[in-house]
Amino acid sequence: MKGVLAFLTLVVVASSRENFSGQQVLRILPVDEEQMNVVKELENLEHLELDFWTEPTKILAPVDIRVPFPNLQAVKVYLESNNIQYYIMVQDLQSMLDEEQMEMKHNRAMEDTRSTDTFNYGAYHKFDEINDFIDNLVRENPQLVSKIQIGKSYEGRPLNVLKFSTGPNRPAFWIDTGIHSREWVTQASGIWFAKKIVKDYGKDTSLTSILNNMDIFIEIVTNPDGFVFTHTSNRMWRKTRSPNAGSSCVGADPNRNWDAGFGGAGSSSNPCTETYRGRAAESEPEVKAIVDFVKSHGKIKGFVSIHSYSQMLLFPYGYTKTRTPDHTELNNLAKDAVNALSSLYGTAYTYGSIITTIYQASGGTIDWTYNQGIKYSFTFELRDTGRYGFALPANQIIPTAEETWLALMKLMEHTSSNLY
Ligand SMILES: *[C@@H]1O[C@H](CO)[C@@H](O)[C@H](O)[C@H]1NC(C)=O
Ligand SMILES: [Zn+2]
Repeated sequence: MKGVLAFLTLVVVASSRENFSGQQVLRILPVDEEQMNVVKELENLEHLELDFWTEPTKILAPVDIRVPFPNLQAVKVYLESNNIQYYIMVQDLQSMLDEEQMEMKHNRAMEDTRSTDTFNYGAYHKFDEINDFIDNLVRENPQLVSKIQIGKSYEGRPLNVLKFSTGPNRPAFWIDTGIHSREWVTQASGIWFAKKIVKDYGKDTSLTSILNNMDIFIEIVTNPDGFVFTHTSNRMWRKTRSPNAGSSCVGADPNRNWDAGFGGAGSSSNPCTETYRGRAAESEPEVKAIVDFVKSHGKIKGFVSIHSYSQMLLFPYGYTKTRTPDHTELNNLAKDAVNALSSLYGTAYTYGSIITTIYQASGGTIDWTYNQGIKYSFTFELRDTGRYGFALPANQIIPTAEETWLALMKLMEHTSSNLY
């Protein structure tokens, strides 16, 4: 009986959600400039309602495109008529998401969320459950952890940040996850990092020395409105949820909304696109809250903003080809961090500046933090390389967090021993 009820609940809840039945994710590897242009042209065909999971960047770099079922045939014909080969990465997105839902329910059934010791780190959680986790962690470790609310989202949700600190007036290292809401492995990793810090402090020599030198801040759900929307309505939601005057399309890309090359290439002025930059820099309260926090804190020395997917570690700049004065140091540090990450499970990462490694992107988070004087500014693209994309199975959460932690430790160790 319980099983039947649970099943009925699943059906009722699922029916209010966007249905991705029959939708596919196609991968294209453009072989020359001409093919690049044909693929870029697809981005301008708005009526096809394509969702570029990865953008056309350079020759042979994979372009993953989610295609709504009714337009699948048209897109395939278009590619074939231009002699462009494509691969079907995801055969039916809805069945992948159905599996995710089943797994989520199953995994969450085996936990007691009243304590961070019985919390299931290998499961995806909802916004309220993450907030309970945050409160529990603070309650269990009052000497080390506190919660700061740095602002409110557009829809009024708290922007909660965990502070790990062992003394007053310290410099600090910032980590955020989930600024793009559909990148679920990032928020889940943020939770794991928070618990890892309280477990390791006083036991692991390196983390202990980091925390005796500087504070760590973690914002786990950096885009709460978008995150709630991925649970209730549309699993593939990336942007914020603020309305746009004169358009029925909602939200701005919070990784194009920062005041660094704002409005330049690699961001869109069209509210209906996934990379819409917003009406002005810092128009999104989720971005403005971090800007105000960073400025008022004044001593943040390292800043890491975590995304998925593609397996990359990136540093500034994204909006210009000009190298930063710290290019060599950042590049060597990225290399060290990636080597540490790969040492655990062999996960292959690429690294470099944003513009040379992926694409030109304007108004991005870490270009702003770097220009603000935060030398150690990095962004991750976590697992995978496209087999599951944003729907990474929950059994990969812990290994992803574990390996990423090794890279984060390199970045924090270097920052802590090179305070400026
Ligand atoms: C999605 O739509 C398909 C086909 O129209 C249907 O069979 C399926 O039950 C729907 N799934 C959900 C979760 O609503
Ligand atoms: Zn992202």
